[in-house]
Amino acid sequence: MSTSARPPAAEPADLAPGAMRAALVAVEPRAAANPDAIRIVRAPGRVNLIGEHTDYNLGFVLPAAVNLEIRIAFVPTDDRRVELVRGATGERAGFNLDAIGPRRGAWVDYIAGTAWALAEAGVAMRGLRGIIVSSLPTASGLSSSAALELASAWALADAPGGDVTPLEFARICQRAENAYVGVNCGLMDQFASACGVAGAAVLLDCRSLEFRPIALPLATHALVVIHTGSTRSLTTSQYNVRRAQCETAVAALAADDPAIRSLRDVTPAMLPAVRARVDPETYRRCRHVVTENGRVVETIDALAADDLPAVGRLWAASHASLRDDFEVVSPELDALVEIATGVPGVAAARMTGAGFGGCTINLVERDAVGTLRAAVLAEYPARTRLTPRVYSVDVVAGAGFIAD
Ligand code: GLA
Repeated sequence: MSTSARPPAAEPADLAPGAMRAALVAVEPRAAANPDAIRIVRAPGRVNLIGEHTDYNLGFVLPAAVNLEIRIAFVPTDDRRVELVRGATGERAGFNLDAIGPRRGAWVDYIAGTAWALAEAGVAMRGLRGIIVSSLPTASGLSSSAALELASAWALADAPGGDVTPLEFARICQRAENAYVGVNCGLMDQFASACGVAGAAVLLDCRSLEFRPIALPLATHALVVIHTGSTRSLTTSQYNVRRAQCETAVAALAADDPAIRSLRDVTPAMLPAVRARVDPETYRRCRHVVTENGRVVETIDALAADDLPAVGRLWAASHASLRDDFEVVSPELDALVEIATGVPGVAAARMTGAGFGGCTINLVERDAVGTLRAAVLAEYPARTRLTPRVYSVDVVAGAGFIAD
């Protein structure tokens, strides 16, 4: 999400463990004095394959964790101080675990907020001195906020991976973002960064919180993320407006039928009744959410049947619904999807994440990735005057320690 307090920007720094250890030793005397105590945590960004704006409506999402990530090398301390340096800039920030204080409007809020939420959840923490390095572009719709929160949670918790499950870490980090940073996001981003599975997408039922890996055709196809290069300044305000519209609809529908507690309870057959109950714009928001939940389920079936033309149709329908009904697709996102759709070998393309800028996700025959890249670099700047960035991503496991 885009806020004034952003996590560290993507930095061309070296994420290799040896380089991170050396960088920490160079800036932190406690690490230099005890290099054997250095530990490294990593937390990935995510792309969502389908199921957009469904998480806070308690529906289905299908994200995958990707190999654009945030890493923290740190030494634990017993002084309750958390001190972090941004590897690329040398910028320092810190706080005391016993007096975290309110948010400051800076990137340290994501770490302080995570500490605050861990404390609220009763998770024991220790101080640390650390260095943050990132390959994950900021404010791009790839969940750099969630990745920084998850990396922080793993570094701060006294016994990470012990009593606290990855899903619980995700919920704690979502609370950090909602209640401390002040962004009213759903669970998807933190979930994907925490619970990602190498080589698979993960289906999450945002009501029951049950999840399971979904195989992807990665032997033949690549996941290609394309960034529009456009800023997402309206994201947070417009995101909250969309969320409020969904809640308004639920309140109106619940007045007639108390069994309706979220848009998850609304079936396609109930949409005519919804149309009669809410204003036309709110109706279109509801129609997106209700039909998008169906498209997630159909995408799972299509992937299981190796029916990639069907996946392509479902992603195209998702994109159109996000554009016409939910109204979060910028002209730049539309241009990228249109260009990709014209490239032979692109099986499926759509916007991913909150919208209003950010990225598209493309499922592309491995042999066609170069053609897609060339088409985007040739056509997109001419159409938009913006510079796109094309990432062919690997699907990786969720946050944790790096063994070395
Ligand atoms: C952002 C939010 C998520 C989700 C998506 C839209 O990424 O952080 O919780 O709502 O937008 O699907």
